[in-house]
Amino acid sequence: MADRKTLQATEQTIQKQYAYIDKIKDITTEISNKEGRQPTYDIRVFGCQMNEHDAEKIAGMLDDMGYSKVTEGDKADIIVFDTCCVRENAEEKVYGHLGLLKPSDDDEKKSVVAITGCMMQQPHVVEKIKKSYRHVGIVFGTHNLYTFPELLYKYLTKGKRIFDVWDTEGQIVEGTPITRAENVKAWVNIMLGCNNFCSYCIVPYVRGRERSRNKQDIVDEVQRLADAGYKEITLLGQNVNSYGNDLGKKDAFADLLYAINDIQGIERIRFMTSHPKDLSDSLITAIKELPKVCEHLHLPFQSGSSRVLKEMNRKYTKEHYLGLIDKVREQVPGISFTTDIIVGFPGETEEDFLETLDVVKKVRFDQAFTFLYSKRTGTKAAKFENQIDEDVKKERFQRLVDLQNSIGEEINQTYDGKIVEVLVEGISRNKDTMYTGRTREYKLVNFPCDEDLTGKLVKVKIVKSRPFWLEGAVIPEGEIS
Ligand code: 5AD
Ligand code: SF4
Repeated sequence: MADRKTLQATEQTIQKQYAYIDKIKDITTEISNKEGRQPTYDIRVFGCQMNEHDAEKIAGMLDDMGYSKVTEGDKADIIVFDTCCVRENAEEKVYGHLGLLKPSDDDEKKSVVAITGCMMQQPHVVEKIKKSYRHVGIVFGTHNLYTFPELLYKYLTKGKRIFDVWDTEGQIVEGTPITRAENVKAWVNIMLGCNNFCSYCIVPYVRGRERSRNKQDIVDEVQRLADAGYKEITLLGQNVNSYGNDLGKKDAFADLLYAINDIQGIERIRFMTSHPKDLSDSLITAIKELPKVCEHLHLPFQSGSSRVLKEMNRKYTKEHYLGLIDKVREQVPGISFTTDIIVGFPGETEEDFLETLDVVKKVRFDQAFTFLYSKRTGTKAAKFENQIDEDVKKERFQRLVDLQNSIGEEINQTYDGKIVEVLVEGISRNKDTMYTGRTREYKLVNFPCDEDLTGKLVKVKIVKSRPFWLEGAVIPEGEIS
């Protein structure tokens, strides 16, 4: 993303939005002058990293418009929901939160409520919001996130509800303002959308087809992050291994990693998500060769049964997946793996599920994100007749979680007494007496320290392994042999 000053005149699309930002700034300045306070915003994010990153863009726009982030417990002038629809419970959470915001007559302050994100790309959801959640003022989609300033200005000046969701992707718009949630590590989008149409998944319908950002735009963004002191970047896409396919480029993802590895100041590079069907030899070589690319791969396998994988339209088998893991481990010893697994896909038998447990046992993932299959209207699998009973799903789910937890704990125990390199991210949110950070393999490490080492790479000795994290002690620089 170019920054505001370096934008070309041809980039009218985003310039138009900056004009609306300036108009809203006049409105917020007036409020500040009259009421002696800065109007506030609250962004509530549901779902994946892509949404977290989109929320940083919404925050950037609102900051530029003269709003400030609300302090906890206060009611904000603008509340924005960034929603997810990948599973039903994510949608239910949003409706729950929205219901709580219904204003009563004696409410002193009525907030502007705006909603965006994947859920809004579904027409039946928009209809429901229109009818049953009349306090929602602005609804917009994932493809026109960058038009938020225009929509907000129209809402503030005309007071009429606005529903503006685009059903096609349109261009990638560079240059939206951004306020990042963290200051050591940053997300960088490299592509949007997905072409895979896994039969259970709603994402291709709500995020559109794959579109890659230009390599130079990405490199420039990472350079600016490095200049601002960021140390770690995570490249984001639904399927990063197909980065560049739509630009007619082969091996473009590995090539991008080489370019980013050359950027001074960046210490670590991560990426997600990889699809097993597209994991190329050139990518494995890049992980092996490039010093900044971390030894960690998030590689969702979803099911261990080749029959179920076929029904899921995943385009690989159990054997292929296990072969890939072996190949990567051979080339990059010590690499850690994390994964996503779905339990209870339509037609999944006990035997199929045992194949899933078998993959978990064979690979020994550091961490697995486990999901109960959730029927998503509009997907192919929603029409499958052999949906699995909820109790059966839950019982299998528990067995899977128990197995993975014991493996995760055993892996953590192997760290006892080891010295690891940690990039310090700041004070731990859960343990405020400790600093927190991760190893290159993505292990969470907490350690007490008198000195603020945020943003530094430090050597830490693991003194106690826990089921889900490691406790360490910093080794002073002079003592590292
Ligand atoms: N039900 C359950 N889990 C799902 N995922 C995607 N769609 C569904 C669904 N319908 C999971 C997959 C994916 C992760 C982001 O969410 O495991 O990798
Ligand atoms: Fe969904 Fe499959 Fe695309 Fe991932 S690769 S976003 S699971 S369709």
